[in-house]
Amino acid sequence: MAFLVHSTLERSSRMAPLFPFLLLLVSVCADVVERFEDVPDCMKYFYKRKVPQWGVSTPGAARLCQRFVNRYHFATLYDTNNRIAVYSAYQFQPSNGGGRESRWFVEPQLVDKSWQAEMKDGYWLEKDHPGVYQGLKQALNEDYTHSGFDRGHLNPNGHHAVPSRNATFTLTNVVPQNPKLNQNAWSNHESSLTKLFNSKCSTAYVLVGAVPSANNWIVKNNVNRVNIPDYVWNAYCCVDNNEQPVESGAATARNTEANLVEKLSLDQLKEFLQQFSKQPTGELFYNNCKA
Ligand SMILES: *[C@@H]1O[C@H](CO)[C@@H](O)[C@H](O)[C@H]1NC(C)=O
Repeated sequence: MAFLVHSTLERSSRMAPLFPFLLLLVSVCADVVERFEDVPDCMKYFYKRKVPQWGVSTPGAARLCQRFVNRYHFATLYDTNNRIAVYSAYQFQPSNGGGRESRWFVEPQLVDKSWQAEMKDGYWLEKDHPGVYQGLKQALNEDYTHSGFDRGHLNPNGHHAVPSRNATFTLTNVVPQNPKLNQNAWSNHESSLTKLFNSKCSTAYVLVGAVPSANNWIVKNNVNRVNIPDYVWNAYCCVDNNEQPVESGAATARNTEANLVEKLSLDQLKEFLQQFSKQPTGELFYNNCKA
């Protein structure tokens, strides 16, 4: 399937004089964007405002500036064919907990580019636009129900204060994750990063991604709906208040009940990711997060 994610604006000659203006409007308030670089507010989730090369040529990739209660909270490179993220990028925020969002959001603009820029509970989106199927380019809440997999956060809710915390409960930021891994080793890893970031970093830039499987899916009604990734990974660049690197690191985990997280250096993660792509992995953080 080929998706024309970036060209949904009709270019009729009648609209031609309006077109540059429309494009500007879209780049200012859109959630699904052409390039992260077009949206300055969305670039702060990347260290030194450098978007990694990793994943840029993913077929059907959409770039999401995750919008909730009138502002951005993180960025996601989303694979609309596998219906899971390539990665989410965020800045760690200290928090004292604050409960669990009970809703699961979808991305309205992946259904129709003209719809609202903020993530929305699929149930209420259906009330706004009855009868329009929401799941063509994204996973839906019902895909995960009784699948045997957790809705595993990439950008974890535990690394944020409200309302960014709520915003992590968007289905474009989760992947089908082995429940044991999600609730044990991966969750423990996230908690150990919380301690590290709180104690050593003025700001921590984090990328969390998934490596899709060749052909392992959550299947609903005989349709391959959501790719079950083989691996999840993360990488961080921890900096001081002059944005100078203090520490960096990475980790990978096979998405199985082996429930094992392997800690790596950024260089080792680059090597690991390289085996899944013909393009060079490139730097995940500017200058490899070195001073
Ligand atoms: C965020 O989630 C909490 C529940 O954990 C809820 O009480 C709060 O209203 C939510 N905030 C927003 C802005 O929706």
